[in-house]
Amino acid sequence: MSWTPTRRFPRANATGSSPSAAVPRTTRRRGARVVAAHDGRNVNEFQALNASETLDNPAHIAINTTVGTGSETTPAYVITDLSSPNAPHKWVGFDRAAITTLAINDPILCMTQPPEYVAYTGFDTMAHASECYVGRVQHLSTTPIALAAIRLTQENLREATYNPKNYKAMEQMVWAQYTAAQAFSTGLLGILHSLSHAVCAYYDIHHGLNNGVGLPRVWTYNQPAAPERYADIAEAMGVDTKGMNVPQAADAAIEAVIRLVKDCGCPESWSQVGEYPKTRMGKGHYEGKTNAAIQSDDDELQKMAEHMMGDLCTPGNPRDLTVDGAKEVLRDCMYDGMAVKTGNGYRQNIWGVAPEMGRRTQQTASERPGPQ
Ligand SMILES: [Fe+2]
Repeated sequence: MSWTPTRRFPRANATGSSPSAAVPRTTRRRGARVVAAHDGRNVNEFQALNASETLDNPAHIAINTTVGTGSETTPAYVITDLSSPNAPHKWVGFDRAAITTLAINDPILCMTQPPEYVAYTGFDTMAHASECYVGRVQHLSTTPIALAAIRLTQENLREATYNPKNYKAMEQMVWAQYTAAQAFSTGLLGILHSLSHAVCAYYDIHHGLNNGVGLPRVWTYNQPAAPERYADIAEAMGVDTKGMNVPQAADAAIEAVIRLVKDCGCPESWSQVGEYPKTRMGKGHYEGKTNAAIQSDDDELQKMAEHMMGDLCTPGNPRDLTVDGAKEVLRDCMYDGMAVKTGNGYRQNIWGVAPEMGRRTQQTASERPGPQ
């Protein structure tokens, strides 16, 4: 099944300047502040780093109610463009003018989320932390706290999901989401977010849910470019890596994240995503397009792959991305199971995890440098 959104989408409004309801409320409002400070100009004019020309934004107090975006404290905002010739297009901006005036994080306010939202937003935290930890921008002020956020998420997300009234678990998850957001505000993100933005633009599924499906795939794709980093992540994920070489430990990280997301109810693939609390699939601008199973033909995968290539998050990824590589990762997220794809004989030419592409390292855990 395929559909052509550029033909079918109604215009959001005359100017296309309204940030879409498809993005989290806090994120949306910070995009709106940038618009307000620029006399109502089209928000699509601000797709860049620090694109604001005036910093005189309206005051904004942000009260966080999830364990994921960290948007109450970051300079990032995300807009789903449903009206310009580029639509559907979900883009991210980083702008110092978007930082809120005051942010409030109280775990009690996160305890009434639907359990699925605790899980999904927790996957977003894992995405932020892991992308920052393995990314091209390695900065001593961010990489240690990124790893700490991975550890906090590993240790608390299951409990927070299934017992959201557990104050300690929720408090730790709030710290994790806040810490991961602080990390990526400097260390930036990678293609997991590019992947998530692309599928959300076309199907409007929850950002954190997208990330949950994408986590094992992107860790697998990136592993050859940063095997030591993924070995560190394995330890943060609670794996005893003594006696493992670097590739084995890096593989164990992928196995651990699969266990985490599946324990927290993540579907194996996007095609298995059904109704969930607060779902927007098949609603609003997407009515009649996404109310059944998510499916994409090769033509649509190509469009989403090109969407990924142009995403602001892609340059921060530790491994270069190609359109063909993006399509294979997208196809895998769309239809396949989460099994670790690091063994011989499975898509190694594109996924690049064959022994000749980074898996020959025999350094053991005790010989590896410790996490920064
Ligand atoms: Fe995110």
